[in-house]
Amino acid sequence: MKRLLSAAFAAAIFCACSNAPTPAGEIVSGAIWPDTQGVHVNAHGGGILQYKDAWYWFGEYKSEHTSNALVGVTCYRSKDLSTWENLGVALSVSEEPGSDIEKGCIIERPKVVYNQKTGKFVMWFHLELKGQGYKAARYGVAVSDKPEGPYTFLRSGRANPGIWPEGIDPKSISDEPLPEKSWTPEWIAAIRDGFYLKRDFEEGQMARDQTVFVDDDGKAYHIFASEENMTLQFASLTDDYTQHDGKYWRVAPARQNEAPAIFRRDGRYWLICSGCTGWAPNKARMYSATDIHGPWVEYDSPCVGPDQDITFGGQSTYILKVERKGKEPQFIFMADIWRPRHPIDARYIWLPITFKKDGTPVVEWQDSWKLED
Ligand code: DGJ
Repeated sequence: MKRLLSAAFAAAIFCACSNAPTPAGEIVSGAIWPDTQGVHVNAHGGGILQYKDAWYWFGEYKSEHTSNALVGVTCYRSKDLSTWENLGVALSVSEEPGSDIEKGCIIERPKVVYNQKTGKFVMWFHLELKGQGYKAARYGVAVSDKPEGPYTFLRSGRANPGIWPEGIDPKSISDEPLPEKSWTPEWIAAIRDGFYLKRDFEEGQMARDQTVFVDDDGKAYHIFASEENMTLQFASLTDDYTQHDGKYWRVAPARQNEAPAIFRRDGRYWLICSGCTGWAPNKARMYSATDIHGPWVEYDSPCVGPDQDITFGGQSTYILKVERKGKEPQFIFMADIWRPRHPIDARYIWLPITFKKDGTPVVEWQDSWKLED
């Protein structure tokens, strides 16, 4: 508890010191980021789509006093990653009572990918039904013909009902109840061995903090915190990117990871995520694999600089691969500094990723930086 409080306090101080507007062309983490109309960008827990000659930023619209979805998912466009034009609401919440995305539900961490085969833009997000807190633990999917939307809501649900993940023998999962005392070695082992996986087998796996990743071969994966946030699951998607195709696997079972963000470089996948401390920041975790199915090996946090042990006061949301003709791809680590008491004032951390000689990523704090020309 003490650690949590000090982390939240550090984040509050960090934010309070960073109210200056962003100088043109510069990326200043923690500052107010005015859009082209001078209003702080409202696109939290977001992700970026690079499409044709622009970047599209999708994120949660947050209000003054609630993080619940009163508006929906917003979209901004930029040609330099620093100047952002507000294109409005890409996916609107519904006014219809009982709709899955009824105004007042929770929509978090939206990510949009473009499907070359169908020519459609596909948005995945974490959805919690109105009035149920975080109990529903569903994914949501929406599609559009244009990057900026409007997106049509397709469906929400639990992931892969009635299907076992790869590498699991269901007969090996015990029928015993979970040990009463949490965080004992027996309790951790029961979860690692598949207690929640089995509990949720019929209804489908829980899907909370999430991202979507399109690999170099065009295959897409939905990556989400499942099993009561104790285990990440990777689920492969159908060719049109709108559904799970029934294949999935678990990564770092019982390690309690949230906020997954992933990229691939030189044949290696890198996954950066967080621990699970609500809106308070914690130390980033990192994993690497040469095959997306694993094995995934845990590394130390890539963060270097002040507050490196609380991810500079933020929580990972996305890693952008910047692709420009004739240039080496660049990677940008993106995180949110949450402000639960004043959600609309949450801030952003965007930092360039550098690489050690052996290819290990480093996210070093910089007060201000510019995209390389
Ligand atoms: C941490 C998650 O990463 C956020 O997206 C949000 O769900 C908060 N928890 C809610 O406490």
